[in-house]
Amino acid sequence: MSGRNRAAWEHRAYDFWIQLNGTPQKAGKDMRADPRKWLRRHLDLMGDVGGRDIVVPLGSNGRKAVPLAVLGARVTVIDISRENGRYAAELAAAAGVALEYVVADYASCDLSRFEGRFDIAYMEGGVLHYFGDLDALFDRTRKLLRAGGCLVLNDFHPFRKCVDGAVPTDGDYFDADLHDAPVAYEDLLHGADKASMPKCLLRYWTLGEIVTGIAKSGLRIERMRETPYLTRPKIPGDFTIVARAMDAP
Ligand SMILES: C[S@@+](CC[C@H](N)C(=O)[O-])C[C@H]1O[C@@H](n2cnc3c(N)ncnc32)[C@H](O)[C@@H]1O
Repeated sequence: MSGRNRAAWEHRAYDFWIQLNGTPQKAGKDMRADPRKWLRRHLDLMGDVGGRDIVVPLGSNGRKAVPLAVLGARVTVIDISRENGRYAAELAAAAGVALEYVVADYASCDLSRFEGRFDIAYMEGGVLHYFGDLDALFDRTRKLLRAGGCLVLNDFHPFRKCVDGAVPTDGDYFDADLHDAPVAYEDLLHGADKASMPKCLLRYWTLGEIVTGIAKSGLRIERMRETPYLTRPKIPGDFTIVARAMDAP
């Protein structure tokens, strides 16, 4: 899965971020001026991030990591895409902050130097479907946290497996297959670029599998928030879980 997803996320990702967020120079200046605007959805769950050590696994172009650094956190991103890393480095420079960006496969890279180092692991916005083994994912993430540290995990609500026609699970909530799926920005590409775009390989998890994986890692789940689907506010669109490490790894 990681090889496939790396190929997809290294194909024109830098250009995509410019389309979505503007040049890193412009976006970085904006983050410097108003970091909270870029962190609106989950900052309330993190408390005061100043002086904290935060890891952002799958932190893509740094659009969450850099505003956190502007607010005074020491931030590390671990992401598989060099194109994302290039945008993030330019973004951090424009915002005038330091950012540690590790280009690596989060499912398999050596994380031993990071063990017990972080107060917060922040994962958000389309992350779990890149992994074929959730227990291993949460186990690795839990080891990064020091005693009292927490995981703030946000993702698409698994309910989308039943209601979102773009999700290739044919309405089956319990579907457990791997699926070819377009990378998030494929629709923005045109012509030859679009035709040659590699597909991601994704696994769509149920809520029970996600909650169980977190609990099995030894993290204590403190809170789960569900938020409405943007265009259909009577059904859940995403969820956010806060889970705490009660002791050192
Ligand atoms: C949709 S983005 C996640 C949202 C992201 N937090 C943001 O701010 O935009 C998915 C990210 O996961 C990364 N990724 C996918 N598989 C990965 C893996 N095995 N290890 C590390 N990063 C991975 C991609 O490079 C991409 O940046």
